[in-house]
Amino acid sequence: MIIAVTNTKGGVGKTTTAVNLAAMLANRNRRTLLIDLDPQAHATRCFLPYTENDQPVELERDVCDLIMDKPSLAARAIMHTETPNLDIVPATDRLTETAELLSTRIRREERLTRALEPIVDGYRDIIIDCPPVLGILAYNAFVAANLLLVPVQPGVGAINGLDTLIEAAGELREEDNVSYRLFWTMFNVRTTRTNAIVEELLEDHQRHVLKSVVSKSESLNQANLAGIPITQYASTSRGAQEYHALCDELLTVKVR
Ligand SMILES: Nc1ncnc2c1ncn2[C@@H]1O[C@H](COP(=O)(O)OP(=O)(O)OP(=O)(O)O)[C@@H](O)[C@H]1O
Ligand SMILES: [Mg+2]
Repeated sequence: MIIAVTNTKGGVGKTTTAVNLAAMLANRNRRTLLIDLDPQAHATRCFLPYTENDQPVELERDVCDLIMDKPSLAARAIMHTETPNLDIVPATDRLTETAELLSTRIRREERLTRALEPIVDGYRDIIIDCPPVLGILAYNAFVAANLLLVPVQPGVGAINGLDTLIEAAGELREEDNVSYRLFWTMFNVRTTRTNAIVEELLEDHQRHVLKSVVSKSESLNQANLAGIPITQYASTSRGAQEYHALCDELLTVKVR
């Protein structure tokens, strides 16, 4: 399965989801590739060492090479992680410039798809962490993925931009029914009124809302701060259990 974790809203848990799903799938003996498509490189930080002054270690290649090189060279951008079965294509802040450069290229939305062609058979799952912007990088992820996974955080503007996102994916893929799933994250059972409002907003998307919910949890936040997947940071915590359940449910989704 190729899953793009996406939402045009920032800070809703995309990277947390991408990192934890990737680690969990790998732990289940599924060869998994995590592609960091965000210049903020937060997912990369969880798997590659950073120096004391918070700079990434010198990377010979990164996701920019994956997108810009000939597809036959794409595999060179893949790095192994310390997690068995998990590889990563890291991001660096160079990606902002690459996105601009990409905008002038022909078939610019298909570059990731073409880069993955020689790689895809080596992996059971590929997880793409998207930036919080509807731009050329996200478009590349939408074309490459066979499922869009959208974390929704209850609160003001929870689903702002959602219809635009799904419409854009449909246009790019030339499909009327894009495969996407929404799920609630940073959920707080106590904010019943807010939850009810968001649930109402999601009514149009009801068929696409997963049953699994990820609660607001201090252990997930701490794991993120430490830059470690929750499976390693607190393997029995509620956050870990809820992401495992989300992972189980995702594996039942039929994709084209
Ligand atoms: N379930 C959760 N409970 C508590 N805190 C969470 C949870 N999920 C994510 N967070 C925290 O919320 C913040 C944003 O999460 P994350 O980086 O995953 O979001 P994002 O959508 O990738 O952000 P961006 O749009 O900047 O890429 C982080 O500080 C993270 O630790
Ligand atoms: Mg992120």
